[in-house]
Amino acid sequence: MMHRLFPSDAREVSDDDLVDLYRFPEPSGSSRPWVRANFVASADGAAQGRDFKSGTLSGAADRRVFALLRALCDVILVGAGTTRVEGYKPVRAEESDTDLRAEHDLEPLPAMAVVSRSLNLDTELVRGSSAPTVVVTVQSAPTEALARVRELAPVVVAGEHDVDFAEALRQLAAQGYRRMLCEGGPTLMHSLVAADCLDDLCLTLSPSLIAGERLRITHGGTLEPPRDLRLAHLLEEGGELFARYCVDRPESPGTMSSSANVSGTSS
Ligand SMILES: NC(=O)c1ccc[n+]([C@@H]2O[C@H](COP(=O)([O-])OP(=O)(O)OC[C@H]3O[C@@H](n4cnc5c(N)ncnc54)[C@H](OP(=O)(O)O)[C@@H]3O)[C@@H](O)[C@H]2O)c1
Repeated sequence: MMHRLFPSDAREVSDDDLVDLYRFPEPSGSSRPWVRANFVASADGAAQGRDFKSGTLSGAADRRVFALLRALCDVILVGAGTTRVEGYKPVRAEESDTDLRAEHDLEPLPAMAVVSRSLNLDTELVRGSSAPTVVVTVQSAPTEALARVRELAPVVVAGEHDVDFAEALRQLAAQGYRRMLCEGGPTLMHSLVAADCLDDLCLTLSPSLIAGERLRITHGGTLEPPRDLRLAHLLEEGGELFARYCVDRPESPGTMSSSANVSGTSS
């Protein structure tokens, strides 16, 4: 059974409590989505397990939180590197908590938004399912690959060589994607944080030490200034710690403007 350590009332956390703790903020007038990241790391900071994937860092409670966060979002934002290493596919109906999603005015399945410069992407992922996959790329993307992707999926082009996340998020919000869950990886996370586009971070600390050469949850140049996090809650189950941090961004969107409406239109 999970316990809440902060704010400390030492009571057990029910499934309903967990939904309340992780629900996205209520919609209000912002033109960009609320962006939440979810990561798991070992106690010594590795974002890759012994097999260089993240699943080997996760316990049962982390898998539950992972699924709940997916159940509460409109769209999963993920870097192409993670899709290749982890073999990402569109979310299937049997993986989705459609009742919970309906209660939160969400479409039955979350869409995917895959960030790639090279467009070296899995065709099944790009094609999507009943929920679309949106490909987020740059003007310098390879022309032929871009034409192929456009035949299969809506595309957002933002930025010349690096995705301009402020612009990409505006375009995604205009398509109805307001509650965004970033599942990594570390390179994408670095880009999002550097662009001050991250609103909250859900971080699971796995009770393990792994050492070796592993990525941390942000990978890239030193962030100047470092971004400060505010602890919103800390939970524990089975030795795993579940922290939720809020990021004080310069232009915090506060809350969001309209309820989610997954359109999948290309731009
Ligand atoms: N512990 C965890 O919770 C967790 C979560 C996710 C991933 N991981 C692990 O992290 C590793 C992958 O890390 P990663 O950093 O390589 O993956 P990543 O961030 O998912 O992907 C990096 C790729 O995404 C694209 N990309 C990212 N930022 C971009 C930008 N600003 N502009 C244009 N394209 C951009 C590029 O794709 P192209 O190469 O296609 O151009 C880039 O090579 C895997 O081992 C995975 O298991 C761990």
